[in-house]
This record gives sequence, structure tokens and C-alpha cells, in this order.
Amino acid sequence: MSTRVAILLSGRGSNFLALHGAMERGEVPAHIARVISNVPDAAGLARAHDLRIPSLCYPHRFEPSREAHEAKILAALADAEIEWICLAGYMRKLSESFIARYPQRILNIHPSLLPAFPGLEPQRQALEHGVKVTGCTVHLVDETLDQGPIVVQRTVAVKDDDTADSLASRILGEEHKAYPEALNLLLTERWEVRGRRVVFLHSGRLPGT
Ligand code: GRF
Repeated sequence: MSTRVAILLSGRGSNFLALHGAMERGEVPAHIARVISNVPDAAGLARAHDLRIPSLCYPHRFEPSREAHEAKILAALADAEIEWICLAGYMRKLSESFIARYPQRILNIHPSLLPAFPGLEPQRQALEHGVKVTGCTVHLVDETLDQGPIVVQRTVAVKDDDTADSLASRILGEEHKAYPEALNLLLTERWEVRGRRVVFLHSGRLPGT
């Protein structure tokens, strides 16, 4: 059975396309049943339309509260019988009550090796801090910001002549591998969360290798 996944995005949507491509190639036993955005002119929404994937937009700025906005998204997710949610550049923090509706079934990708450089502009933060290695992290979403249990990380070496843009572009290449890999692991392996750790059971395979 192919798992029903929703993508939440606010922008470009390259991680959405990477996930979709991996699913189409049979590398992840899932399909994208909905793409949902809070930004009407998000490029990712247009790509979903091109691919004939049902897409919806709920602009948040016309809503009286976060709860009212999220209620619409939750209704759309329930309507589509969504099992897993992949945040892919979704620039809104989800409320605790939203997350509680999909316990350990929401993934996010962040362009740094968490817990280093959470929040905005992590590539710039990494460059300014002077780290020699950075990368990306796919993690389960909990009520903390960018601090949920880690599923997969991939590394990127920082070059002396890197700009935030050049670094972001190399990290993005790794993101496009890490996100399908993480979702596939979670859908095909037995795993559990022990404390902060995602532990894979009965498998010698290490995430990220
Ligand atoms: C990615 O760098 C992702 O890690 C971050 O937002 C960016 C989204 O890019 N959360 P895209 O829309 O998937 O191209």
C-alpha cells in the first residue's frame, strides 16, 4: 500500500519535487496526495498543478487566528486521508495541537546539522560562525522549533570562498537525497523514538550511509 503523504510548502518546492521524483521512481512507497501552501504564488504550488497533484492554498493572513488557519488545513488533510506530512519550506510554525493530531508523522527538513543553527538563514549562520562542515537534517516535528528527533543528516564541506548562496545550493543537493531517504526509512523499517533518538530496529543499516 502506498502511503498518502501531504506536502506543506511556502515557496520554491524543490524538496517537494525531490520527494515526488523518488516516489515516482519507486524509491519511496508513498505518493503525494495533497500539496498545501499558505502562500498563493508559491512556485511549489504551480509545480503541483503542472504535475496534476491536488493542491490547495490557505493564506494565513486573512485568518483571525493560528487555530482558524490550521483548522482549514487539518480538515483538508483529513479529507484526503493523509497519513504522513512532509514540511518542505513551510514557513509557519505549527501549533502543539496540530502536531498532536499527527504524532511522529510529521517530518521537516532544515539546511544545517541540527542542533546547530536552528531558525532562519542557517546557511548564513554556519558561514558566519566559521564551521568547516555543515549540511542538512531531516527530523520528526515536535513542539520545539527545529529540535525534534533526528532521522537523517547529510554533511557538506564549507569552502573558503563560499557565499551563503553557494553553500545553500550545495546543501540543497544533499537535502534532495536526505528527504526521500528519511521518509523511505520511516516507512519501510521498524523504528521507535527513545528519548531524543530515532532508533531503527532489526536493521544493521545506519541512516545517512
Ligand atoms: C530548504 O532549504 C529547506 O531545508 C528549508 O527551506 C528550504 C525550502 O526549499 N526548510 P524548497 O522550497 O524545498 O526548494
